[in-house]
Amino acid sequence: QNDTLTDTFGRRHTYLRISLTERCNLRCQYCMPAEGVPLNPKSKLLTTDEIVTLAKFFVDEGVTKIRLTGGEPTLRKDLVDIVGQLSAIPGLRDVSMTTNGVALTKQLVPLMRAGLGGLNISLDSLDKDTYARMSRRNGFAKAMAGINLALQLGVKSVKVNCVVVRDENSQEILDFVDWARTTPLEVRFIEFMPFAGNAWERKTMMSIQEILNVIKSKYPDLERIQGNKSDTAKLYAAPGFQGRVGIISSMSDHFCGGCNRLRITADGNLKVCLFGNSEVSLRDALRANISDDDLRATIQAAVRRKKKQHADRRMPYNLTQPQNTLLVPIHFFI
Ligand code: GTP
Ligand code: 5AD
Ligand code: SF4
Repeated sequence: QNDTLTDTFGRRHTYLRISLTERCNLRCQYCMPAEGVPLNPKSKLLTTDEIVTLAKFFVDEGVTKIRLTGGEPTLRKDLVDIVGQLSAIPGLRDVSMTTNGVALTKQLVPLMRAGLGGLNISLDSLDKDTYARMSRRNGFAKAMAGINLALQLGVKSVKVNCVVVRDENSQEILDFVDWARTTPLEVRFIEFMPFAGNAWERKTMMSIQEILNVIKSKYPDLERIQGNKSDTAKLYAAPGFQGRVGIISSMSDHFCGGCNRLRITADGNLKVCLFGNSEVSLRDALRANISDDDLRATIQAAVRRKKKQHADRRMPYNLTQPQNTLLVPIHFFI
């Protein structure tokens, strides 16, 4: 394999996240302001053909896994078609999706037929009122139905993403763990990350250590399970668990050293880091009929600008200094 996707720190990027839309049917407080965010006109977004062309190009350069994200990817009209075309790319081992699950039930069977692999589904509360408060919408019953259907249909990997916000949903940590004890899914607690417009405060962020302390109060024999070094989540289970628990410590102990991810935003920018701004428009390149060699060089140059890590190892965000919050809304490309 060539080294287009290898950065100056020797990290090989085999995992591509493609955002399919900037729109969302929820308004999670930790993600965006109540009024939503300004959207690009459709003409600026990648078309299905452009997405498939770029995906094939990246697979030729060594990508083996693609995750579809948003905004909320199920809002994209041609989602099933996109999944079908991506799944058919030789050399691509996995096409997965991260969704809030609210609009999932109707589409799940066609999506699985089209070749969808795993599903990561965001669900921040097991209580419908708390869910509504955190997401500013009433999506609980539908999201829950989406998760249950995915389990029932045997989706090969079901992960539930729960962003922990102190005193909002933190009292439910053990309820979520109990769910993983009795159900073959992975419950993942995510440290709350700051960025413009999401009202992050140091005191509302619960660290992996605090989350683990809560879990160990009920499950003292919780054990770490070894994963891959590119995993976002540190994995745990206790004896007798059907599922497992993951904790994503982006804030207190980041995983930049093992990072294997690249992102393409819905409007076609290549982002080499979730927190970085080294963007280059692959959409403009495609629309200018760039040659394959020039496209390769453009991508390689961006990958080589990737920094070693998003900030200091122990205090990625220098948690005491609010001005270090992200200045770009995350929902477009997380
Ligand atoms: P898998 O493909 O199942 O490993 O999923 P994932 O954990 O990479 O992605 P998902 O879309 O489920 O995102 C879950 C959480 O992971 C997000 O809320 C982020 O906190 C975190 N995350 C995802 N990608 C990155 C990244 O590149 N850098 C950092 N720091 N955090 C990330
Ligand atoms: N901090 C941590 N995770 C976040 N997500 C969205 N905003 C934030 C934030 N500020 C999560 C969503 C979804 C995943 C892709 O990113 O809950 O599960
Ligand atoms: Fe939508 Fe996800 Fe942002 Fe919630 S976190 S508003 S579900 S994009």
